[in-house]
Amino acid sequence: MTSVPLFQFKSSGPSATQKFGKKLGALLPAGSVLALNGNLGSGKTQFTRGLALGLKVQSPKEVRSPTFTLIAEHDGPKPLCHADLYRLEGGEWSAIGLSEYWARGGWVVAVEWADKIPSGLPSGCLTLQFDILSPTRRLIRVFGESHWIKIVQKAAQP
Ligand SMILES: Nc1ncnc2c1ncn2[C@@H]1O[C@H](COP(=O)(O)OP(=O)(O)OP(=O)(O)O)[C@@H](O)[C@H]1O
Ligand SMILES: [Mg+2]
Repeated sequence: MTSVPLFQFKSSGPSATQKFGKKLGALLPAGSVLALNGNLGSGKTQFTRGLALGLKVQSPKEVRSPTFTLIAEHDGPKPLCHADLYRLEGGEWSAIGLSEYWARGGWVVAVEWADKIPSGLPSGCLTLQFDILSPTRRLIRVFGESHWIKIVQKAAQP
């Protein structure tokens, strides 16, 4: 990941963050891996709900932080693997089998608190950094290889 974002925008509220996720979900190829980083309450799960809608998973309303299970699967035409590593202890990550989702392909994988994995996610992943600007505004910065730019820009169009 370079330190220069491919793209950034300010979300004006939860629905704007969800809409960005939904539009991105509709455009993402199966096999995409997304690292979602940012503090508690910065909007990672809100974004993932939108992603699930865009991917047309069967039960998008069931997307919530999979705190105790760490990984939740959502079936659909482009199935979603949603992980939340907040409670992951150091070194445990290889035991939870997350890498199988990108090794197998076919899944869209969204990982909250991805920065807890020391080696990072696969090199082709898209990283989204969420920062709280105010109670309702979030800065969303997107990092990744340049081929992602078109998709991300399209998803962020009003
Ligand atoms: N612009 C915004 N985008 C996203 N969420 C927002 C925004 N403004 C306010 N919120 C609120 O912030 C909260 C974001 O919660 P969310 O569960 O998505 O955060 P999170 O990053 O997943 O946190 P955690 O690390 O605890 O899982 C929600 O209560 C949402 O309504
Ligand atoms: Mg969350």
